[in-house]
Amino acid sequence: MDSLRQKVEALSLQINDFAITDAASLEQYRIQFLGSKGTVKDIFAEMKNVPNEQKKEAGQLLNSVKILAEEKLQHYSNLKEAASLKIDSDIDWSAPTNGRIASRHPLQIVGQEINNIFGRIGFSVAEAREIEDDWHNFSALNLPEDHPARDMQDTFFVNKNPDMVLRTHTSSVQVRLMEAQKPPIRSIMPGRVYRNETISARAHCFFHQVEGLYIDKKVSFADLKQTLYYFVTQFFGEGVQVRFRPSYFPFTEPSAEMDISCQLCKGKGCSVCKQSGWVEILGCGMVHPQVLRNCNIDPEEYSGFAFGMGIERLTMLKFQINDLRLFSENDQRFVSQFAGAR
Ligand code: DAH
Repeated sequence: MDSLRQKVEALSLQINDFAITDAASLEQYRIQFLGSKGTVKDIFAEMKNVPNEQKKEAGQLLNSVKILAEEKLQHYSNLKEAASLKIDSDIDWSAPTNGRIASRHPLQIVGQEINNIFGRIGFSVAEAREIEDDWHNFSALNLPEDHPARDMQDTFFVNKNPDMVLRTHTSSVQVRLMEAQKPPIRSIMPGRVYRNETISARAHCFFHQVEGLYIDKKVSFADLKQTLYYFVTQFFGEGVQVRFRPSYFPFTEPSAEMDISCQLCKGKGCSVCKQSGWVEILGCGMVHPQVLRNCNIDPEEYSGFAFGMGIERLTMLKFQINDLRLFSENDQRFVSQFAGAR
């Protein structure tokens, strides 16, 4: 056992002393110590000379030198890989991490909170495809071809004839739900949407929306208002004020947009709310009877409300973020600020 210990020590010294300076010496190291005829393998052959009662101790000893040899190989292989990727060689790729804890993306934090709030009042979460056909993104929503309202949303076409698009809004998921389920339907539908917009602090070619839909007997505009009021007070706190403005969407009648009191200046007026004290956060309305009919739901029997809001917008207001591009640039200085946020 003592002689084995000495051999292990001698081998450990050799391993530590072996200078790896380039790819060739790395390979030489691997063959000499860890190859199929390497010295680490050799020394394991000594096991058979060890008496049974010492085998456990000897095994641990031999394993320790094997691990030493392998770790050195791994360490330099990582360096080699880093160098071959032509990554700035000043960086020590073997340095231990700085212990920073990963953080969730702010859109994910807010998305989860939205799901939770609506979950508490009985809304389930539904999702559907991002590449949509013309029917689900437009026609079923009362936006027939040549309807001027199609211009409200600049569309990315994936295919022409049959038209396939990157969905311009999550309203397409409403249609899929109504086609697939019988009322009552009470769901929210979060997801990514795409529009052919020039990227700036206030616009992006992709962003996220959450759609809401409630279809049942005798659903009224009062239900819509109360549901949305519940949502914003849960999300922003009791002090938030809301107002509804009449608006137009082809898929709802009547339609409205909802504003909330500006969360940055608390309604006093600032650049975010353009000095008005109000910020628009969503569009909504009573589902148009024609849309119900398009999805085989009888508008004489059922009514419902729908709404759609931008998740980035809500996140910007909640966390006082002033540039949409920050959400998709993955800058650690931005993302890491949300560690522990909720
Ligand atoms: N789809 C609209 C948009 O992308 C938002 C919207 C407005 C959704 C009214 C709705 C709604 O469900 O009823 O701007």
